[in-house]
Amino acid sequence: MELTESAVPPAGLPELRRACMIADGADPFQHAPDFAAHPASGAEFSSIEGDAGLRGAGILWGPIGDRYACICVVPGERLRGLGGTIAEWVRRVTVGEGADVIRSWVAGAGFVTDRFCDRWQGVVARRLMKLTVELPAGEAHLPEGYEVRGFRPGDVPALVAVNSEAFADHPDQATMTAEDVEAKISQPWFDPDGLLLAWKDGEPAAYCWTKVHSGTDPPEGEIHLIGTAPVHQGRGLGRAMTLAGLRRLENSTRKGTLYVDEMNVAARSMYRRIGFRIERVDVQYRFQVPS
Ligand SMILES: CC(C)(COP(=O)(O)OP(=O)(O)OC[C@H]1O[C@@H](n2cnc3c(N)ncnc32)[C@H](O)[C@@H]1OP(=O)(O)O)[C@@H](O)C(=O)NCCC(=O)NCCS
Repeated sequence: MELTESAVPPAGLPELRRACMIADGADPFQHAPDFAAHPASGAEFSSIEGDAGLRGAGILWGPIGDRYACICVVPGERLRGLGGTIAEWVRRVTVGEGADVIRSWVAGAGFVTDRFCDRWQGVVARRLMKLTVELPAGEAHLPEGYEVRGFRPGDVPALVAVNSEAFADHPDQATMTAEDVEAKISQPWFDPDGLLLAWKDGEPAAYCWTKVHSGTDPPEGEIHLIGTAPVHQGRGLGRAMTLAGLRRLENSTRKGTLYVDEMNVAARSMYRRIGFRIERVDVQYRFQVPS
C-alpha cells in the first residue's frame, strides 16, 4: 500500500474518523481544525489506500514554528507499519523547513500511543483531562454582592479584560482578543444566555462560557471557558459560575463536560467538589524535528 500526498482531505476521511471513534472511544481529530469547513486551511494531507478504501491518513497543519500533526490508521490495519509510514512522511515534509518541534494531540491517549510516540522520540508535553458530570449538578449560590446575567453585545471589552486577568498564568488563553471573541460569537453554536458574566459594583468579576455539542450522542454540554479575576477568587464565585453554567446546559442535555489541564490544581479541585469525574485523558506529544 502506497502513501499519496494531497492538499485537500482524502476521500474517505470521515469514514476513517468514524471507524477510529467507534474503536477508540475518542475522535482522532478532536483537537484539529475543522478541515471540511475550511478546505483552504493550508493543511497538508497524506493517505494510504487499500482494497477496502482509506486505511490510514496523516494531517499536518499550522505555521512553521507552530506545526501540528495527526496520524490515524483504521483499526483492522494497525501494527502493520502504516502509522510509521505516515510518521516518516511527517518527518520528511518538516525536516529542513525551519520548525524545531511538531506537536500532536491524541484524544484518549494510553499505552499504545505512548509506545508509538516513544518510537518516534516524542515526549509528553501536556495532559488535558476531559471531565464529565451528570446533570443536574446542583444549585448555584452566588457570594454576596455579585450578580450574573447573560452576554450583551457591549460586553466584549469586559469579557476580554476578565479573561486576561483570570488566565494571566495560562499564556494560551490569556491572549484572547476582542476579535477572537467576535469570531466565537458569530459561530452557529453561540447562545448569549449561555455566556454568563458576573459583576460586582458594575465591574466584571468572572465569566462562564458554555457550549452545547448537539452532534454527539448523547448531546454534551461543555463548560467551554471559565475564569474568575484574581481579586474575586477564593470567594465561591468560580463554583457558583460553574453551577450556573451547568444549569443553563440542563436545558439541552444531562451530561456536563469540560477540559482541564492536569497541572491546573485550583480548577481540578473545584470541579471534583462539584462532582466532575475523569472520562478521558488527552495527551499532547512533542517531537523534535532533526535539523
Ligand atoms: C479555577 C477558578 C475559576 C476558581 O475560581 P474561584 O472563584 O477562585 O473559585 P471558588 O472560590 O469558587 O473556589 C471553589 C473551589 O476551588 C478550589 N480552589 C480554588 N482555588 C484554589 C487553589 N488556589 N488551590 C486549590 N484549590 C482551589 C477549592 O476546592 C474551592 O472550594 P473550597 O473553597 O470549598 O475548598 C480560578 O482559579 C481561575 O479563574 N483560574 C484561572 C482560569 C482557569 O484555570 N479556568 C479553568 C480552566 S479549565
